[in-house]
Amino acid sequence: MRSWLLVLPLLVSSGVSTLFVRDGSSKVIRVPFSKERVTHNQVSKREPASKTAVQKLDNKDFLFYANVTVGTPPQHIRLHIDTGSSDIWVETANSEICRRDGGNGCDIGGTYDNGTSSTAEYVEGDFSIMYVDGQYASGVYAKDTLGIGGVGVKDVQFGIGLQGTSEEGVLGIGFERRQSRVLQGLEPYPGLVTQMVNQGLINSRAYSVWLNDLNAAAGEILFGGIDTGKFKAPLATIPLSRRTDLPSPIDFIITLHGLTIENGDGESRELMNTSRNTPALLDTGASFTYLPQDIAGQLIELVGAITVPEYKGPAVNCSKRSLEGSINFTFAGATIKVNLRDFIIDATDEPNEDNHILCYFGILGMNEGSVLTLGDTFLRSAYVVYDMDNEAISIGQTIFNSTSTNIMEIGSGPDAVPSASRSTTDVDSIPVTATSPSSAGPTSNPAAKSTGSPNVSNSAATTASSLSTKFLAPFFFSILSLAILL
Ligand SMILES: *[C@@H]1O[C@H](CO)[C@@H](O)[C@H](O)[C@H]1NC(C)=O
Ligand SMILES: *[C@@H]1O[C@H](CO)[C@@H](O)[C@H](O)[C@H]1NC(C)=O
Ligand SMILES: *[C@@H]1O[C@H](CO)[C@@H](O)[C@H](O)[C@H]1NC(C)=O
Ligand SMILES: *[C@@H]1O[C@H](CO)[C@@H](O)[C@H](O)[C@H]1NC(C)=O
Ligand SMILES: *[C@@H]1O[C@H](CO)[C@@H](O)[C@H](O)[C@H]1NC(C)=O
Ligand SMILES: *[C@@H]1O[C@H](CO)[C@@H](O)[C@H](O)[C@H]1NC(C)=O
Ligand SMILES: *[C@@H]1O[C@H](CO)[C@@H](O)[C@H](O)[C@H]1NC(C)=O
Repeated sequence: MRSWLLVLPLLVSSGVSTLFVRDGSSKVIRVPFSKERVTHNQVSKREPASKTAVQKLDNKDFLFYANVTVGTPPQHIRLHIDTGSSDIWVETANSEICRRDGGNGCDIGGTYDNGTSSTAEYVEGDFSIMYVDGQYASGVYAKDTLGIGGVGVKDVQFGIGLQGTSEEGVLGIGFERRQSRVLQGLEPYPGLVTQMVNQGLINSRAYSVWLNDLNAAAGEILFGGIDTGKFKAPLATIPLSRRTDLPSPIDFIITLHGLTIENGDGESRELMNTSRNTPALLDTGASFTYLPQDIAGQLIELVGAITVPEYKGPAVNCSKRSLEGSINFTFAGATIKVNLRDFIIDATDEPNEDNHILCYFGILGMNEGSVLTLGDTFLRSAYVVYDMDNEAISIGQTIFNSTSTNIMEIGSGPDAVPSASRSTTDVDSIPVTATSPSSAGPTSNPAAKSTGSPNVSNSAATTASSLSTKFLAPFFFSILSLAILL
């Protein structure tokens, strides 16, 4: 850690000169991210609330981190990228958690000091956010220049965490209607992606995510662009589903039409077809994939996974990685094929430790009242464009470890994503009902308490809410009182 910190000043000075220099022709911001397994005292990955039972093991989750700078001159911070929440917040050196360990609590992630930034602006109001897994942060709002992918985005609003549970901040890039302020009944403010558009840095509010292979150290987000070297063209564009109680989508939910498993000999079995169309949340914040109980059960049985109490979920002999075979996930216009071995995840960084000789199986059954969730075990095999302007996803088969690069701008207006086509046959979107205020959405939003509609009859998948949402509520008052009690 130390040597890492010592090299920083050099990077800082070289970074300053390059910060605002970019190729004028390309309105794409390229942000590589690193993947890290989290341990106990770091922010945990935001699993659906319904799956808290699996949260206790160490080393289970992978988080994605991007290096950013905040302020002028730039202060270097790394943030956990989250497509399922919509607030950015950073740590500051005098926060409760950073002052721990003799003041070294936030050495890894870095902190922000508005006092030394000439571009810091005061923003009225208090910041507070709580995530489904119980993590929270609260403090004040600020505005400053945010450097990301070599570009300075001015006037970005974010929270400064003064109290909270994590030493590292979050870069939430979901829909603005998910901001914690909106859950408190206030108007949204322009988020990072909107400011990129407002400042002419990208053409529309859209970004693509290439998670890449589990064992690859890095992946990439392109704001305002796609990299046609990283997927098998074309992409299929699928409109987002919305909750029946809201006028427009606030989550990245599309309809899953079918699931088929195939073994190494080419024999296949259909597990789900269009008779069971199901809303499915694309969630980089979930490490695993959560399917209806009956389907997860069949898959678990087919790969020979077993439930081991210590693992709090299905586990398999790691040697099953040699299994040939795959699962096809079918959407309108696209099929994403995921190799069975990509669902087999080491339980720790040290696979041979005595009590961790098994691996996790990356598919779990979802609880009643939660939404089908396609987490990292699925998303690694997909290249996904999150198009907030058009309220659509464009999705295609990834190319693992691709070193070929061909970055193209996403334009503006409908069908702005290059290399993507809308399915002509079937572009329905199933309205998602919200029945479970406890797990997802904004509990402060009365709409979240509305009861289910008959539209979606599949009992296993009726709420939008569970998860990505990541917000339980603006627990502002309870956080304050907690802080006082402590
Ligand atoms: C972030 O910065 C650190 C320190 O310079 C560097 O080691 C790391 O590779 C960077 N990560 C990414 C994803 O760029
Ligand atoms: C700077 O941040 C502190 C919290 O660290 C806050 O109390 C103060 O109001 C901020 N100042 C401005 C000018 O935003
Ligand atoms: C991708 O690269 C990683 C790290 O080099 C390697 O472990 C993995 O097997 C590669 N994946 C594929 C599908 O080639
Ligand atoms: C869809 O699946 C159901 C239940 O497995 C089955 O009864 C039905 O025949 C299937 N429909 C088609 C078109 O394959
Ligand atoms: C896993 O499978 C290998 C090879 O089939 C076998 O040798 C080993 O004993 C198995 N491990 C466990 C824990 O069952
Ligand atoms: C799975 O999808 C791939 C790619 O679209 C396709 O080639 C293959 O035939 C599919 N397999 C089954 C069993 O549907
Ligand atoms: C959903 O329900 C509403 C009201 O019950 C109905 O008007 C609408 O046609 C239904 N949509 C679908 C896709 O079934």
